[in-house]
Amino acid sequence: MTVKETVLEIFQENIGKSISGQEIATRIGVSRNSVWKAVVQLKNEGYLISSQTRNGYIFSPDNDIFNVSSVKSLMKSEHEVIIIDKESSSNTIAKDLATANAEEGTVVIVKSQTCGRGRMGRSFISSSENGLYMSIILRPKLPATRSVNVTVLCAVAVAEAIEETSGRECKIKWVNDIFINEKKSCGILTEASVNLENGQLDYAIVGIGVNIAPPSEDGFPDEIKDIAGSIYSDRMPKGYKSLLAARIVDKFFKYYPDMEKKEYIKPYREKSNIIGKQVNVYIGNEIISGVVKDIDDDAALIVNTGNGLRKFNSGEARVRKI
Ligand code: BTN
Repeated sequence: MTVKETVLEIFQENIGKSISGQEIATRIGVSRNSVWKAVVQLKNEGYLISSQTRNGYIFSPDNDIFNVSSVKSLMKSEHEVIIIDKESSSNTIAKDLATANAEEGTVVIVKSQTCGRGRMGRSFISSSENGLYMSIILRPKLPATRSVNVTVLCAVAVAEAIEETSGRECKIKWVNDIFINEKKSCGILTEASVNLENGQLDYAIVGIGVNIAPPSEDGFPDEIKDIAGSIYSDRMPKGYKSLLAARIVDKFFKYYPDMEKKEYIKPYREKSNIIGKQVNVYIGNEIISGVVKDIDDDAALIVNTGNGLRKFNSGEARVRKI
């Protein structure tokens, strides 16, 4: 972390409180002059910081900045973060970067997507300033057939990040939709490039779209307003987007390096809102009905069809309203 990022982190732990340049300098082991330079840079980036000769610095509670520094200063893991104001889709940008050899772990955030993509070829409405749209570039040493693990791990990471930062309980609908108060509040789309010679993944892009609050002007559009939800029903707290982005990355990389241990499966099962429910599973043109018996260690859905058990590694499950 740079001096500027560390200073910002200290400010964010002390919002509205006075803290002297000397205290910050001692905490990070640099000179007061370096702290002063970092503060000037932060002010130039738009942070509201007042400085008084005797009272030190005060980081204003009115700061609501979402930029690379604000995300990185809250992130415990070290990753490249790129934030773009407006683009088609963070997954598309991440794919281009992955093809150009970007490092694993690079995080791409697009503030407003003009062409957000969802699963099954659907579009994902994602132009709102109250949403977080991000993609992570990965180079997992996995056969393509097991790329679902990345998606499942990501669902757990996002659910944990939302719960930790907002206190809202998250449920996961197989495979990777996150529900809050029975409304879909987050979707995940994993896209990958496969090496045809060995069947391994060249790279995978995990794309995450979270509704933090409803779009400010008119709320959710008519076509999704009955099913879409958000973490907050009204407004998001100041600084929340940076915090959520940082926690998602940290949680993701808590599980990812030891993915083989599948430590995410237990919380995945615990957060499932589908076990024991009557469902229709859609695979291509086929619809299979039954009761979900369990989710196995490969995150496959085990469904009791009445004619025996069937196992699904992919597809879409919808709970039947009886
Ligand atoms: C779904 O629910 O169908 C998945 C939605 C995934 C949306 C995210 S937003 C960030 C990333 N960029 C995209 O174009 N899609 C994913």
